[in-house]
Amino acid sequence: MTDHPLKLHVKTYGCQMNVYDSERMAEAMGPQGYVQTDSPEDADLILLNTCHIREKAAEKVYSELGRLKGLKAKNPDLRIGVAGCVAQAEGAEIMARQPAVDLVVGPQAYHRLPDLVARARSGEKALDTDMPEEDKFEHLPQARTWVGTGAKTVRPTAFLTVQEGCDKFCAFCVVPYTRGAEVSRPAARLMSEARALVDRGVKEITLLGQNVNAYHGDGPEGGTWSLARLIWALDEIEGLERIRFTTSHPNDFTDDLIEAHGTCAKLMPYLHLPVQAGSDRILKAMNRKHTAEQYVALIDRLRAARPDLLLSGDFIVGFPGETEEDFQDTLRLVERVGYGQAYSFKYSARPGTPAAEKEGVPEEVAADRLRRLQELLGQQQRAAQEAMVGRETHVLFEKAGRLPGQLVGKSDYLQAVHVIAPDSLKGQVARVRVTEAKPNSLAAELV
Ligand code: 5AD
Ligand code: SF4
Repeated sequence: MTDHPLKLHVKTYGCQMNVYDSERMAEAMGPQGYVQTDSPEDADLILLNTCHIREKAAEKVYSELGRLKGLKAKNPDLRIGVAGCVAQAEGAEIMARQPAVDLVVGPQAYHRLPDLVARARSGEKALDTDMPEEDKFEHLPQARTWVGTGAKTVRPTAFLTVQEGCDKFCAFCVVPYTRGAEVSRPAARLMSEARALVDRGVKEITLLGQNVNAYHGDGPEGGTWSLARLIWALDEIEGLERIRFTTSHPNDFTDDLIEAHGTCAKLMPYLHLPVQAGSDRILKAMNRKHTAEQYVALIDRLRAARPDLLLSGDFIVGFPGETEEDFQDTLRLVERVGYGQAYSFKYSARPGTPAAEKEGVPEEVAADRLRRLQELLGQQQRAAQEAMVGRETHVLFEKAGRLPGQLVGKSDYLQAVHVIAPDSLKGQVARVRVTEAKPNSLAAELV
């Protein structure tokens, strides 16, 4: 340790799991004397926690590195590290392409970060993209609401990674290669992490996994827990008010999990359930292993259990071989399901994936399809927002709003809600009536 605290700046790209991992990495560096800083200019160590899912996301990392390398001229002690899925996928190539990078660490090796940083500080180039047998989380400090520069900021919402990796091998996706095989964390460890979060004021926990509903962790007394079993155990934690989970695969939706949507009051009525495409031919080429009809039937069962469920999805347009006819099937599926929220992307060929061998559709065709799909999804989102007006829901207040006296939080359906409310409600759940809908937020009043 040095006499002045070392400063760590972490910049996170991509999914919520990276957000969770970034917090774990920052905590792992705490005992080494590092405190977090929001500004890269002050930092002694900069970590980019990266995303490889689409080409654009991966390229962002190199432009950011290009900007950051100038800081080294001013501070020769500065070390720059690349973590996350680009680190896993590209490894030493990153250092070849951008020599300012001192360390590269893959998602399954974060528990070795302190060691890697020490090596980088002694002037070595440090690289670890192993996927070791041991569970990194068993060697990382337990999740807590993070301690920033000085004051402890307690947030009422937290992520909790319960499962990592993917064995599904959708033909377009890098995740099975960057995050590795599916692994579930033991239930007892998750329960104690959840209890610790709640003790610190957390009211809402979002369970994370690339295939979260494939969760099958060791139970505390032997046997295996399903995601539904875990949710029911979390339901018993006093003080925890909301449970969410993401991201699910249609084929892993078990009966007990569908049922929980109707019977577990703490499980929120919002579900992100990607389908990617609406054409059976394309779904087959994507190796999704389900049809459009099976997906719609699943949605029907979920809605039978929880009629007000708000659905969100992911879509890819322009997958190799996608015809106008196939694309029409996607639009039809969207019409049938009705999404309150959605993410849609142009197909991006990723190195090492099976689909990358095939010819994609012309760029302008994909761009046009994306525009048309987003128009439809946008209409549905606006309709879902409008439908909230006059209805009552709960809001978990997270922070101050832009207007004086205003707080902002999320509804049960994960919509952002602005409410004139006393500061004492920060971190609390309150009942509200929605008065106004905008495309991306709602206004409401306390009831
Ligand atoms: N191109 C475009 N979108 C992709 N996704 C995953 N891989 C690709 C790709 N190669 C999308 C999927 C997934 C979301 C996280 O990102 O829709 O559900
Ligand atoms: Fe990627 Fe498919 Fe696994 Fe999701 S289920 S992470 S899209 S391979």
